[in-house]
Amino acid sequence: MRTQVAIIGSGPAGLLLGALLDNAGIDNVILDRVDRQYILSRIRAGVLESGTAAMLDHAGAGARMHQEGLVHDGFSLSFAGRRHRIDLKGLTGKSVMVYGQTELTRDLMDHRERLDGKTIYNAKHVTPYDFDDKPYVTYEKDGATHRIACDFIAGCDGYHGVSRASVEGRGLEHFEKIYPFGWLGVLADVPPVDHELIYANHTRGFALCSQRSLTRSRYYIQVPLEDKVEQWSDQAFWDELRRRLPRDVAEAMITGPSIEKSIAPLRSYVAEPLRFGSLFLVGDAGHIVPPTGAKGLNLAASDVHYLFEGLREFYAEKSNACIKAYSGRALARIWKAERFSWSMTSLTHRFPANGEFDQKVQESELDYLSSSNAARTAMAENYVGLPY
Ligand code: FAD
Ligand code: DHB
Repeated sequence: MRTQVAIIGSGPAGLLLGALLDNAGIDNVILDRVDRQYILSRIRAGVLESGTAAMLDHAGAGARMHQEGLVHDGFSLSFAGRRHRIDLKGLTGKSVMVYGQTELTRDLMDHRERLDGKTIYNAKHVTPYDFDDKPYVTYEKDGATHRIACDFIAGCDGYHGVSRASVEGRGLEHFEKIYPFGWLGVLADVPPVDHELIYANHTRGFALCSQRSLTRSRYYIQVPLEDKVEQWSDQAFWDELRRRLPRDVAEAMITGPSIEKSIAPLRSYVAEPLRFGSLFLVGDAGHIVPPTGAKGLNLAASDVHYLFEGLREFYAEKSNACIKAYSGRALARIWKAERFSWSMTSLTHRFPANGEFDQKVQESELDYLSSSNAARTAMAENYVGLPY
């Protein structure tokens, strides 16, 4: 088989890239090691920057998001029982869209199926080759080894994928920070406790009240890294969540059985560079942010924006200037989102090793935010997403 762009990974990055390439008439094939149902069962991000929402529109798959997504003009920070609203719309003129990663992925998959785009699910041992010269990808399926010759390989295969592993030892640098806690997340078919998100810093640890729709809530609490999800009954989760929220919020909370419960460790990670000849690292394959501030999926989308510009220019104008610029342009935005996610994590979580000094600094930063329009504007500008 031959294609122009072989895309490894059918997550948000791979699907978004595939849709934009299809619209531009650039042939592509998506390979994933698991199947559609498995991908759609992963509960992950929930907040889209306006740039990400606009990309879904450009891809031609934004209709359901506009019908069912919830436009949020602000969010709250809660600290020591007090709540401070960050007025995103008032401070930046922009809003965010609450629409689950699962829904965005489903819309892109359905769109691809309608256009007869080629996706190979359950492709095992996917391996990229020869990306300095004549690139190709091999994979195994139904007991046979297959080969796809291509012009470019987009490594959209997430943090544990094969793309980054295949460039190890070729000048790849790693920058990493591990946090001493994880997030226990619960999804439940109960109405959200508030019409906006609440990020809470409490002496017992961080808590987040998020949502997926007017009838489905997503809540998180900070837990020690050693905790196992089996230790947490639904009742224990709801009790702990309530303890970390302001009294009026805790009293208004409606609880119910969890439909998903999982623990995710927190990590900051960047790989440099993101281009090796005709192979590109895109989305989580090249970087990870801690979830605070909801930047992971949005960064995957901005990477796709830069890569698509490069590929479009290559085929339409026979120039590889934009392709050569991909790594530098993407990394400049990635590092700003890394900084923001780290700073929002530092502001809202309890770090076991922190002493009273660090605690006072954290309190004064929250105090500064509540008293300074400039501080709130800086936070809002990053939260809604920096320009591409
Ligand atoms: P992925 O979504 O990881 O997609 C990669 C795809 O590649 C997968 O379908 C995978 O099956 C496939 N793949 C992997 N290896 C191979 C291989 N060898 N061969 C073929 N295919 C392969 N972000 C937020 O903003 N908010 C959140 O609340 C949030 N929660 C998260 C919770 C968890 C548990 C995780 C892991 C991430 C979370 N994120 C969150 C981050 C966000 O979900 C990611 O940033 C986003 O999924 C990145 O999209 P992607 O397409 O780059 O990678
Ligand atoms: C969600 C996750 C986040 O990390 C965040 O900052 C906001 C919302 C969510 O899963 O809904």
